[in-house]
Amino acid sequence: MRSPIRPGAALIGGMILGIVFALVVWKLTPLSLGGPSPSPTSTMPAATQTTVYTVQATPLAASPGGSTLATLTPATALQVLGAQGASLQAGLDLYRSLDSPTIVYQDPATLVRAGVLASPSAAQPAGSVTVAGSPWQRVHLAGWVTRSATAPDLSALWSQASSLYAQSCGTCHTPHDPSEFTGRQWVSQFRAMVPRTSLTQGQADLILKWLQAHAAKQ
Ligand code: HEC
Repeated sequence: MRSPIRPGAALIGGMILGIVFALVVWKLTPLSLGGPSPSPTSTMPAATQTTVYTVQATPLAASPGGSTLATLTPATALQVLGAQGASLQAGLDLYRSLDSPTIVYQDPATLVRAGVLASPSAAQPAGSVTVAGSPWQRVHLAGWVTRSATAPDLSALWSQASSLYAQSCGTCHTPHDPSEFTGRQWVSQFRAMVPRTSLTQGQADLILKWLQAHAAKQ
Protein backbone atom coordinates (compact mmCIF):
# COMPACT_ATOMS: atom_id res chain seq x y z
CA MET A 1 0.00 0.00 0.00
CA ARG A 2 1.26 3.46 -0.90
CA SER A 3 1.59 6.11 1.82
CA PRO A 4 -0.91 9.01 1.27
CA ILE A 5 1.96 11.58 1.57
CA ARG A 6 5.13 11.13 -0.40
CA PRO A 7 8.41 11.51 1.60
CA GLY A 8 9.40 14.62 -0.50
CA ALA A 9 6.13 16.39 0.26
CA ALA A 10 6.47 15.58 3.96
CA LEU A 11 9.95 17.13 3.99
CA ILE A 12 8.75 20.37 2.29
CA GLY A 13 5.71 20.52 4.61
CA GLY A 14 8.01 20.12 7.62
CA MET A 15 10.27 22.93 6.39
CA ILE A 16 7.31 25.30 5.90
CA LEU A 17 6.05 24.52 9.40
CA GLY A 18 9.54 25.15 10.75
CA ILE A 19 9.78 28.54 9.02
CA VAL A 20 6.32 29.57 10.25
CA PHE A 21 7.26 28.51 13.80
CA ALA A 22 10.55 30.45 13.61
CA LEU A 23 8.72 33.56 12.34
CA VAL A 24 6.14 33.36 15.17
CA VAL A 25 8.89 33.01 17.80
CA TRP A 26 10.84 35.91 16.21
CA LYS A 27 7.72 38.13 16.22
CA LEU A 28 6.74 37.27 19.80
CA THR A 29 10.15 37.47 21.44
CA PRO A 30 10.58 41.26 21.45
CA LEU A 31 7.04 41.67 22.81
CA SER A 32 7.44 39.17 25.63
CA LEU A 33 11.05 39.95 26.56
CA GLY A 34 11.48 43.57 25.50
CA GLY A 35 9.80 45.14 28.54
CA PRO A 36 7.81 48.36 28.27
CA SER A 37 8.41 50.36 25.09
CA PRO A 38 10.40 53.60 25.63
CA SER A 39 8.16 56.33 26.99
CA PRO A 40 7.88 59.48 24.83
CA THR A 41 9.34 61.57 27.68
CA SER A 42 12.66 59.71 27.54
CA THR A 43 15.68 61.97 27.21
CA MET A 44 17.31 62.14 23.81
CA PRO A 45 20.94 61.09 23.60
CA ALA A 46 23.47 63.89 24.05
CA ALA A 47 24.53 63.57 20.40
CA THR A 48 21.15 64.89 19.25
CA GLN A 49 21.13 67.92 21.59
CA THR A 50 20.34 71.13 19.82
CA THR A 51 19.84 74.75 20.77
CA VAL A 52 16.57 76.58 20.12
CA TYR A 53 15.53 80.13 21.05
CA THR A 54 12.37 81.51 22.66
CA VAL A 55 10.52 83.81 20.24
CA GLN A 56 8.41 85.56 22.89
CA ALA A 57 8.03 85.84 26.66
CA THR A 58 7.70 82.11 27.39
CA PRO A 59 6.68 80.21 30.53
CA LEU A 60 9.00 77.35 31.51
CA ALA A 61 6.81 74.71 33.16
CA ALA A 62 7.72 71.97 35.66
CA SER A 63 5.97 69.41 33.41
CA PRO A 64 4.17 69.74 30.02
CA GLY A 65 1.33 72.17 30.81
CA GLY A 66 2.29 72.14 34.51
CA SER A 67 3.11 74.87 37.02
CA THR A 68 5.39 77.72 35.93
CA LEU A 69 9.02 77.63 37.14
CA ALA A 70 10.10 80.76 35.30
CA THR A 71 9.12 83.25 32.62
CA LEU A 72 11.83 83.41 29.97
CA THR A 73 12.55 86.53 27.94
CA PRO A 74 12.43 86.33 24.12
CA ALA A 75 15.68 85.25 22.41
CA THR A 76 16.77 83.00 25.30
CA ALA A 77 18.84 79.99 24.22
CA LEU A 78 17.53 76.58 25.34
CA GLN A 79 19.32 73.22 25.21
CA VAL A 80 16.76 70.70 23.99
CA LEU A 81 16.77 67.64 26.29
CA GLY A 82 13.66 65.87 25.03
CA ALA A 83 10.24 66.23 23.49
CA GLN A 84 6.67 65.19 24.21
CA GLY A 85 3.83 66.14 21.89
CA ALA A 86 3.74 69.93 21.51
CA SER A 87 6.28 70.44 24.34
CA LEU A 88 10.07 70.52 24.44
CA GLN A 89 12.11 69.69 27.53
CA ALA A 90 14.77 72.37 27.93
CA GLY A 91 17.81 73.00 30.09
CA LEU A 92 19.50 76.35 30.79
CA ASP A 93 22.81 77.17 32.50
CA LEU A 94 22.40 80.66 33.95
CA TYR A 95 23.67 83.10 36.59
CA ARG A 96 22.09 85.11 39.35
CA SER A 97 23.07 87.61 41.98
CA LEU A 98 22.02 86.53 45.47
CA ASP A 99 20.76 90.09 46.04
CA SER A 100 17.88 89.34 43.64
CA PRO A 101 17.76 85.53 43.44
CA THR A 102 14.75 85.31 41.10
CA ILE A 103 16.35 87.26 38.23
CA VAL A 104 18.43 84.97 36.03
CA TYR A 105 20.99 86.08 33.45
CA GLN A 106 22.48 84.45 30.37
CA ASP A 107 25.65 86.43 30.87
CA PRO A 108 26.65 88.35 34.02
CA ALA A 109 29.31 90.39 32.15
CA THR A 110 26.80 92.01 29.78
CA LEU A 111 23.72 91.67 32.04
CA VAL A 112 21.71 89.86 29.35
CA ARG A 113 18.65 88.52 31.14
CA ALA A 114 17.20 85.05 30.59
CA GLY A 115 14.06 85.59 32.66
CA VAL A 116 12.48 85.67 36.08
CA LEU A 117 12.02 82.65 38.36
CA ALA A 118 8.67 81.99 40.07
CA SER A 119 10.70 81.37 43.25
CA PRO A 120 14.44 81.24 44.10
CA SER A 121 14.23 77.42 44.51
CA ALA A 122 13.06 76.94 40.89
CA ALA A 123 16.75 76.83 39.82
CA GLN A 124 19.48 74.57 41.22
CA PRO A 125 22.73 76.21 42.43
CA ALA A 126 25.77 74.97 40.47
CA GLY A 127 28.78 76.88 41.80
CA SER A 128 29.94 80.47 42.01
CA VAL A 129 32.01 82.91 39.95
CA THR A 130 33.24 86.47 40.33
CA VAL A 131 32.46 88.78 37.42
CA ALA A 132 33.54 92.44 37.38
CA GLY A 133 34.30 92.21 41.10
CA SER A 134 30.85 90.90 42.04
CA PRO A 135 29.91 87.39 43.19
CA TRP A 136 27.52 85.45 40.96
CA GLN A 137 25.92 82.08 41.50
CA ARG A 138 25.74 79.66 38.57
CA VAL A 139 22.35 77.96 38.39
CA HIS A 140 20.78 75.21 36.35
CA LEU A 141 17.17 75.47 35.27
CA ALA A 142 15.20 72.72 33.51
CA GLY A 143 11.57 72.45 32.44
CA TRP A 144 9.16 72.39 29.52
CA VAL A 145 8.22 74.98 26.91
CA THR A 146 5.70 74.97 24.08
CA ARG A 147 7.52 74.01 20.88
CA SER A 148 5.69 76.76 18.94
CA ALA A 149 7.24 79.39 21.25
CA THR A 150 10.72 78.49 19.93
CA ALA A 151 12.74 78.94 16.74
CA PRO A 152 15.90 77.17 15.54
CA ASP A 153 17.81 80.45 15.16
CA LEU A 154 17.62 84.16 15.98
CA SER A 155 17.58 85.66 12.46
CA ALA A 156 13.80 86.30 12.17
CA LEU A 157 13.63 87.52 15.77
CA TRP A 158 16.55 89.94 15.32
CA SER A 159 15.04 91.48 12.19
CA GLN A 160 11.74 91.92 14.07
CA ALA A 161 13.68 93.56 16.94
CA SER A 162 15.59 95.93 14.67
CA SER A 163 12.43 97.21 12.94
CA LEU A 164 10.61 97.59 16.28
CA TYR A 165 13.63 99.51 17.54
CA ALA A 166 13.66 101.87 14.55
CA GLN A 167 9.89 102.48 14.91
CA SER A 168 9.75 102.94 18.70
CA CYS A 169 13.11 104.48 19.49
CA GLY A 170 13.48 106.62 16.39
CA THR A 171 10.47 108.92 16.77
CA CYS A 172 12.09 111.70 18.88
CA HIS A 173 15.74 111.27 17.85
CA THR A 174 17.68 109.21 15.37
CA PRO A 175 17.90 105.70 16.86
CA HIS A 176 21.26 105.28 18.57
CA ASP A 177 23.52 102.68 17.02
CA PRO A 178 23.65 99.55 19.23
CA SER A 179 27.46 99.75 19.24
CA GLU A 180 27.38 103.19 20.92
CA PHE A 181 27.12 101.50 24.34
CA THR A 182 28.15 98.24 26.02
CA GLY A 183 25.57 95.62 26.99
CA ARG A 184 25.70 96.84 30.59
CA GLN A 185 25.30 100.49 29.59
CA TRP A 186 22.28 99.68 27.43
CA VAL A 187 20.42 98.35 30.49
CA SER A 188 20.24 101.79 32.14
CA GLN A 189 19.94 103.77 28.88
CA PHE A 190 17.08 101.57 27.79
CA ARG A 191 15.30 101.61 31.14
CA ALA A 192 15.26 105.44 31.07
CA MET A 193 13.66 105.50 27.60
CA VAL A 194 11.10 102.66 27.60
CA PRO A 195 8.47 104.70 29.53
CA ARG A 196 8.50 107.18 26.61
CA THR A 197 7.31 104.44 24.22
CA SER A 198 4.23 102.23 24.03
CA LEU A 199 6.31 99.01 23.83
CA THR A 200 4.94 95.96 25.67
CA GLN A 201 7.18 94.25 28.23
CA GLY A 202 7.90 91.40 25.78
CA GLN A 203 8.80 93.81 22.94
CA ALA A 204 11.01 95.88 25.26
CA ASP A 205 12.81 92.73 26.49
CA LEU A 206 13.39 91.65 22.89
CA ILE A 207 14.77 95.04 21.78
CA LEU A 208 17.08 95.26 24.81
CA LYS A 209 18.48 91.80 24.06
CA TRP A 210 19.01 92.76 20.41
CA LEU A 211 20.82 95.96 21.49
CA GLN A 212 22.98 93.98 23.93
CA ALA A 213 23.79 91.34 21.30
CA HIS A 214 25.01 94.09 18.95
CA ALA A 215 26.56 96.33 21.62
CA ALA A 216 30.15 97.51 21.97
CA LYS A 217 32.30 94.77 23.51
CA GLN A 218 33.98 97.04 26.07
C1 HEC B 1 9.24 110.66 23.43
C2 HEC B 1 10.54 110.90 22.79
C3 HEC B 1 11.58 109.78 22.92
C4 HEC B 1 11.44 108.46 22.63
C5 HEC B 1 10.19 107.70 22.13
C6 HEC B 1 12.73 107.85 22.90
N1 HEC B 1 13.63 108.79 23.30
FE1 HEC B 1 15.57 108.51 23.72
N2 HEC B 1 15.79 110.44 24.24
C7 HEC B 1 14.79 111.39 24.18
C8 HEC B 1 15.30 112.66 24.69
C9 HEC B 1 14.52 113.95 24.80
C10 HEC B 1 16.65 112.43 25.07
C11 HEC B 1 17.63 113.45 25.71
C12 HEC B 1 17.99 113.08 27.15
C13 HEC B 1 16.77 112.94 28.05
O1 HEC B 1 15.79 113.68 27.93
O2 HEC B 1 16.81 112.01 28.89
C14 HEC B 1 16.90 111.02 24.78
C15 HEC B 1 18.12 110.39 24.99
C16 HEC B 1 18.39 109.09 24.66
C17 HEC B 1 19.68 108.45 24.85
C18 HEC B 1 20.87 109.07 25.52
C19 HEC B 1 21.97 109.45 24.58
C20 HEC B 1 23.22 109.89 25.34
O3 HEC B 1 24.04 110.53 24.70
O4 HEC B 1 23.35 109.62 26.54
C21 HEC B 1 19.56 107.15 24.41
C22 HEC B 1 20.64 106.09 24.38
C23 HEC B 1 18.21 106.98 23.97
N3 HEC B 1 17.53 108.18 24.11
C24 HEC B 1 17.70 105.78 23.53
C25 HEC B 1 16.35 105.58 23.29
C26 HEC B 1 15.77 104.27 23.11
C27 HEC B 1 16.51 102.95 23.16
C28 HEC B 1 14.44 104.46 22.91
C29 HEC B 1 13.38 103.40 22.71
C30 HEC B 1 13.17 102.51 23.83
C31 HEC B 1 14.19 105.90 22.97
N4 HEC B 1 15.39 106.54 23.21
C32 HEC B 1 12.96 106.48 22.76
C33 HEC B 1 13.52 111.20 23.70
C34 HEC B 1 12.96 109.98 23.32
